[in-house]
Amino acid sequence: MSTFASYAQYYDLFYQDKDYAGESAYVHTLLSKHTQALDNKDCFLLDLGCGTGNYTQHLAKNIGRVKGVDLSPEMVEIASSRHQGLSNATFEVGDMTQYNKEKDVDIITALFHVVCYQTQNAALTSFFENAAKMLKPGGLLAFDFWYGPAVLTDRPGSRTKTFDLENRCVTRTAEPTLYANENKVNVCYELLVEDKTSAERERIEENHQMRYLFYPEIELFAKHAGFEILESLEWMKLDLPLSFDSWNGIVILRKQ
Ligand SMILES: C[S@@+](CC[C@H](N)C(=O)[O-])C[C@H]1O[C@@H](n2cnc3c(N)ncnc32)[C@H](O)[C@@H]1O
Repeated sequence: MSTFASYAQYYDLFYQDKDYAGESAYVHTLLSKHTQALDNKDCFLLDLGCGTGNYTQHLAKNIGRVKGVDLSPEMVEIASSRHQGLSNATFEVGDMTQYNKEKDVDIITALFHVVCYQTQNAALTSFFENAAKMLKPGGLLAFDFWYGPAVLTDRPGSRTKTFDLENRCVTRTAEPTLYANENKVNVCYELLVEDKTSAERERIEENHQMRYLFYPEIELFAKHAGFEILESLEWMKLDLPLSFDSWNGIVILRKQ
């Protein structure tokens, strides 16, 4: 069973307060600093690790054509049914470390820590290489990530949050374990779902392996695949460089 298989049905509940509209506008602003392609009506954006399509749908409002690709069939099923009304958006199951069937793509995004799910060097190498294969020369790649120096400065701790639904109550606990030599955090999610009427309880557990990244390694993977780094910033900032306080960073890369 893939990561997100059980989590998918609760994903939009867990992130119901996340400002996808504002964050998509931020990414659009950063991209528009470096490309004219956004103004073309046939601009094509590929959103890798699209999940339930939350960024995809907002990006689609201002871009000619968008396609969301995700490893999890459960997430893609939700994305496809939720966004049926979007005539310029499609969704497909695919692994971003292998996916390279599109051509002449203007922009590739991978948002909300998607790249950190690629924990092995080989997976990161393939992701960059396949992204480069699909992009037009001058095309842009944008992704956010857990920034290593900040993760190690302010290490992740366990968190618990409860979500109230009409018939059920869902309590999510995240328990992180750090692996120093792998630059990796295993986040063990435990979901306790309680039926309010019958008081029956279901317990779901999923492990999400996340790799935090350092600038020189992003530079290495990027250069190897033929990208140059145009921007590296703290997430949601337009001019704040990465620092020990930047838990989440974003980079914009251009295919040379
Ligand atoms: C935290 S979610 C983000 C989803 C979406 N971008 C959002 O912001 O709501 C991470 C997503 O990355 C997807 N993912 C992880 N590894 C992947 C891979 N190798 N190829 C495609 N999708 C992947 C997961 O299935 C999951 O949907």
